[in-house]
Amino acid sequence: MSKSKHYTGLIERYRDRLPVSATTRIISLNEGNTPLIQLQNIPRLLGKAVNIYVKFEGLNPTGSFKDRGMTMAVTKAVEAGSKAIICASTGNTSASAAAYAARAGIKAFVIIPEGKIALGKLAQTLMYDATIIQIKGNFDKGMALVKEVADHAPVTIVNSINPFRIDGQKTAAFEIIDDLGDAPDYHCLPVGNAGNITAYWKGYNEYTTSTDSHPAVTSKRPVMCGYQAAGAAPFLAGKMIDNPETIATAIRIGHPQSWDKAWSAQKESGGWFDKFSDDEILAAQKMLSQYEGIFCEPASATSLAGACHDIRSGKIPEGSTIVCTLTGVGLKDPDTAIKQCVDSQPLTIEAELTAVKKAILDTM
Ligand code: F0G
Repeated sequence: MSKSKHYTGLIERYRDRLPVSATTRIISLNEGNTPLIQLQNIPRLLGKAVNIYVKFEGLNPTGSFKDRGMTMAVTKAVEAGSKAIICASTGNTSASAAAYAARAGIKAFVIIPEGKIALGKLAQTLMYDATIIQIKGNFDKGMALVKEVADHAPVTIVNSINPFRIDGQKTAAFEIIDDLGDAPDYHCLPVGNAGNITAYWKGYNEYTTSTDSHPAVTSKRPVMCGYQAAGAAPFLAGKMIDNPETIATAIRIGHPQSWDKAWSAQKESGGWFDKFSDDEILAAQKMLSQYEGIFCEPASATSLAGACHDIRSGKIPEGSTIVCTLTGVGLKDPDTAIKQCVDSQPLTIEAELTAVKKAILDTM
């Protein structure tokens, strides 16, 4: 009888391209292997002949792309004998760190900006039983504190300044090439701390490079398009900003840690940065839900807002294949979703057939 195959996570899948050995204990929740979904209705709405795919990273175990980096970071922390991890977070990193720490049986400390974390992320982090430290300050302040405290306490930092995070996250680029058969023409991403754009660029580059152990998989690399929220757009300002503000709380960041690497990705790929207002971001989030049945969190929709803008303007030409990363699932932030649907609140009626029939006929 043949043994059934179980997907066991991205480290097993890409083991020969990741810094693990045969004896490393892998801390995994079967992350990765997320769907690359081709949009069917939005290209028609745009009136443009383009192939748009979304890489739905919200379908990772804790609902965001952070799990790719966290499986590696926590695996390596445990291998090095660490008993505790720490991160600053706008919400998703903290949820992911807390889950992988629970899985590994170590402690997680998370520093979050008070009142600026989406509800779902807070609920997860509480359930995974991390120690949550809320600060009266934003993510950037939290990040600075994490870097300082790691010199004074036995904790491993699992923010994306930890190189193992980038190694785990680069596997999303491998999956895209493995699925499409080649790199896309354009890759669109929301940019906050800039770890993810750095990771994708690393992944795309590694698949074009031949080494002693690997022949190159392709010679093609995509143009990298990094999109920010208008109120939190240091890459557009050309400098760090101190009071970032956006409804897309995941990317409410003014001092990105991977500043130089993100600029390299932009320059080397011939790409660009752009910024979009909160209204434009929410409109893209709603459009994706309404016309494709794909519900992502606000920050994630920044990639689609940018792609649609650049397709409409012709900057991304017809005939292109475009991948937008959807970094987190929509359920992370139910408050923002419900608030933006004020015009389509549920109907409340009597529990009887005639009332239900009337409600249906009135809306058809
Ligand atoms: N999208 C979502 C949903 C995020 O949570 C983040 C970052 C980003 C995009 C931006 O990615 O920082 O690599 O450029 N969230 C971090 C956190 C900062 O703490 O969860 P980036």
